[in-house]
Amino acid sequence: MEENRKQRGHLKAPGNWINDPNGFIYYGGKYHLFYQYFPYAPVWGTMHWGHAVSDDLVNWEHVGVSLFPTKYGDQNGCFSGSAVEDNGKMALFYTGVHYLETDPENIHQNIHDRFEACQMMIVSEDGMHFDNFNGKKVIIPTIQDKSIGNRADTRDPKVWKGRDGWYMVLGSRSENGRGKILFYRSDDLVNWSYVNDVSKGDGWGWMWECPDYFETEGGQVLVFSPMRFLQDGKWEENQAICMTVEFKEDGCEMDLPDRYQYLDYGLDLYAPQSTTDKDGRRVLTAWLRMPETVEEEGKTPWRGMFCLPRVVEAKNGHVYFRVHPNVKKLYSRQIMDVKEAGGKGYRVSLLLEEGGYMDVGGYRVFRRGNRICTDRTGVFCEGDDYRMTFETPAIQEGYRLELYVDEHMVEVYVNDGEYVVSNAVYGMADELSVCGGREVKLFGMED
Ligand code: FRU
Repeated sequence: MEENRKQRGHLKAPGNWINDPNGFIYYGGKYHLFYQYFPYAPVWGTMHWGHAVSDDLVNWEHVGVSLFPTKYGDQNGCFSGSAVEDNGKMALFYTGVHYLETDPENIHQNIHDRFEACQMMIVSEDGMHFDNFNGKKVIIPTIQDKSIGNRADTRDPKVWKGRDGWYMVLGSRSENGRGKILFYRSDDLVNWSYVNDVSKGDGWGWMWECPDYFETEGGQVLVFSPMRFLQDGKWEENQAICMTVEFKEDGCEMDLPDRYQYLDYGLDLYAPQSTTDKDGRRVLTAWLRMPETVEEEGKTPWRGMFCLPRVVEAKNGHVYFRVHPNVKKLYSRQIMDVKEAGGKGYRVSLLLEEGGYMDVGGYRVFRRGNRICTDRTGVFCEGDDYRMTFETPAIQEGYRLELYVDEHMVEVYVNDGEYVVSNAVYGMADELSVCGGREVKLFGMED
């Protein structure tokens, strides 16, 4: 793990496996980003919370494991959750998972879907030390009432401070196999009462993971990750989506429109989580799903990373995901050739004309009419089940593109976040060619 401890730009697994971002918070003058972590192998297993800290959202340091199973409730995993600050302390909320039937051949998995979930919390005095043995509490025991939620599939508490108390959204599913969200309320973060739920009709996935609700100047936004949203047998069917909503804290009533956007049109990002940055912006990151482990000479094999932090804004019912200013600042050293980026990743900005295209080391970005499309066929794993080509919906605001290119991920921001297409990639060449582009500029990381 030592060799991957400090990272710039994209945050990657310190070794082995990571999935969802958890407990994202600006606390005590630093950003803390926890994550679902299996510390023993580059596969999903008994979940721990890994922990990374940063002064600026772009220079990260992994500081080890903060949560690990110690209780009956979280014996088989500390699943996703969130963080808030209360009276100077950091409170973490997460889902504890207990298997009722364990796979004898792999104790990190259950069999026959026999497990149960409860919601737990732990408070830390300083955001760095977590007393896993004495500091945990069950705040919402396993749900028994089927009309409220499922005893196994209820998870991922996201807590925020509302006008007159604390609120929580939880992902769950109903008896008739539809995803839903549960709302809870508390005065003291410890005692929680169920208030209401919300769901949609058929075709919206059977279980909603990782809900996140927040207000922006331009409207209220809900982000969630319905499982089996795309039922086409491809990798992956679970997809993160978002929408502007109407929410009333009083009674926790939420209206969900039929209109939605994908969080990202590369369809690789999942389980996003947001917080507010130190200047009050709503900032979000998400897990990049990677089908294969990265093996590098002299390093622990790793799998899973996060997208660059994005500022979320809503305007006229549309949700924008803009590059965080600190990211732009990081990639601000103007260069003439991608080789000058020193293998650390680079940014390209340009205006793409009708019929224009770019070849980013084998990854293709092109314009077809009023859509921006990508094709990773040349730089991805082989397999019929993988999605290879992607496109945005019809673009409204022009064709200014900003690409952030990393060895294992390309992020294409269209019109400063009108849409974003991000893809996992493997084996890209250190080359770039542009045809039909204007005002092309290249930047490497600052020293
Ligand atoms: C989403 C998810 C969450 C869960 C966690 C387990 O990717 O399935 O719902 O808490 O991952 O690692």
